[in-house]
Amino acid sequence: MTNTLITKDWWKDEVIYQVYPKSFKDSNNDGIGDLNGIREKLLYLKELGITTLWICPIFTSPMIDNGYDIADFEGIDPQFGTMEDFDRLLLEAKKLDIKIILDLVINHTSDEHIWFKKALADKNSKYRDYYIFKEGKEKPNNWRSIFGGSVWEKVPEEDCYYLHVFDKRQPDLNWENPEVRQELYQMINRWLDKGIAGFRIDSITFVKKDQDYSSLPADGVDGLVSCKHKTRNRPGIEVFLNELKKETFEKYNCVTVGEAPGVAYEEFSDFIGEDGYFSMIFDFHYADIDVESGSDWFKRTNWTTKEFKELVIQSQEALQNAGWGANFIENHDQPRALSKLVKEEFQNSEAAKGIGAMYFFLRGTPFIYQGQELGMLNAQRTDIKQFDDISSIDNYYRSIQEGFSEKEALDFVNMRSRDNSRTPMPWDSSQYGGFSTHQPWLEMTKEYPDIHTTDNSVLGFYKEMIALRQHSELHEVLTKGAIDFISEVPENVIAYTREWKNEKIYVLTNLGVNKEKVNLPKAIEKLYLVTHDNVVSGQEITLAPYQSILFK
Ligand code: GLC
Ligand code: CA
Repeated sequence: MTNTLITKDWWKDEVIYQVYPKSFKDSNNDGIGDLNGIREKLLYLKELGITTLWICPIFTSPMIDNGYDIADFEGIDPQFGTMEDFDRLLLEAKKLDIKIILDLVINHTSDEHIWFKKALADKNSKYRDYYIFKEGKEKPNNWRSIFGGSVWEKVPEEDCYYLHVFDKRQPDLNWENPEVRQELYQMINRWLDKGIAGFRIDSITFVKKDQDYSSLPADGVDGLVSCKHKTRNRPGIEVFLNELKKETFEKYNCVTVGEAPGVAYEEFSDFIGEDGYFSMIFDFHYADIDVESGSDWFKRTNWTTKEFKELVIQSQEALQNAGWGANFIENHDQPRALSKLVKEEFQNSEAAKGIGAMYFFLRGTPFIYQGQELGMLNAQRTDIKQFDDISSIDNYYRSIQEGFSEKEALDFVNMRSRDNSRTPMPWDSSQYGGFSTHQPWLEMTKEYPDIHTTDNSVLGFYKEMIALRQHSELHEVLTKGAIDFISEVPENVIAYTREWKNEKIYVLTNLGVNKEKVNLPKAIEKLYLVTHDNVVSGQEITLAPYQSILFK
């Protein structure tokens, strides 16, 4: 355990930057980002001002799901480097006062994990009970996996199936087996002993399955039904999550960020309250506003900015009632925020700053996904062959199966593909953006000769925002302050205050495409941040489309 982590709630003061290692920086020019690449860029991150790095999975993996399919929890994948590279990264980051958190994927493993190989090889091995195998000639039920198709995969040459909530090469661990849980806890503690600052915890609401394994009415033409109803945040999960915390995290002063889709606001205090399972959780209610569910991209919604604003408000109020938020607008599973939240003709650096300021000062720990600080946009691909991500490929074919044309299917996938945010980080305008000298594993976005880290005003603005939150006279109010939403504003404007002791700060963002006149509760005394050129002062102001201001 590192000794710099002093207070119990130290993570409330952090700004966390998410690195997708395959696409951040390639140090040995094989086209794939790696640990030494991250180390080379520590100074960039230090100058940006972030304090903690979350690195997506770097463990030994066949990379079916880019590392979310782990074959060895305690090995580093050779694509990314070695354990020595990791130790050096941890050490050099520490010298710069940057903490590192890793991705903890414990709902499932890869089918290449030694436990699963032993389970398959020998029916009588104890490892059979490490996973969920069911005997029978037929599939046990009609549940659809998150990445499409049945959750059940047949065991070769046996009348037996195993369960996978994600891809068939990601078999689910059997959390009902106490021995499995103990193995996981020991592994977690060994990583924490190494001095990492905590974990982002993957798909953790899936660890408890309804033990009746019964079918439900189909919800698609494939005759299947989303497994979420029977495998996500199910009764009994509290026993596992409490035990997980007691046996591991609680013994360390570490941060835990749960990826917790499917948790209703009424349940937030179980997850993030005083005795909650985690320090904070990601809330997807507003991130997934454009689709009915994060896994069916052809079920698009006609969302309005008013609805978006209301979802943000509900989310923040629920987080404040229960505990602390993990605020984000992008990650490796989401499209770029500028493409998703901003109408096409306004997708420019000013709007990138506007939506940035809107979420960055919400109450909680802000997360920045690599490239978000550059104002990056989605990639536009013209053929399904250009996609790498398994869920993009599944969604494409499932859309066609549901009756959409190839063009419509491609449109859905272009809008939602996880490959949108997984493109290589453009460091400069040279070939392959300074990411590598070798052709990268995934094509760069079209905008990269123009948008990169040198001379980028969005990047400058992110530095300003971070400095304001971390090091200015507003540090206390922006970290500790209560959040309150102002309702007397136009419907497309989201306005909130942060208040602490005698300090009160206002943040206003116009989320719409028209200019909006706002009558402020008081005249602007001091303007700290503004995203657009137009002058705002006094008590009656006009906000340009997607403009944000922060003032007192
Ligand atoms: C989480 C990850 C995602 C991954 C899935 C399965 O949702 O964020 O990238 O595919 O879990 O591990
Ligand atoms: Ca490399």
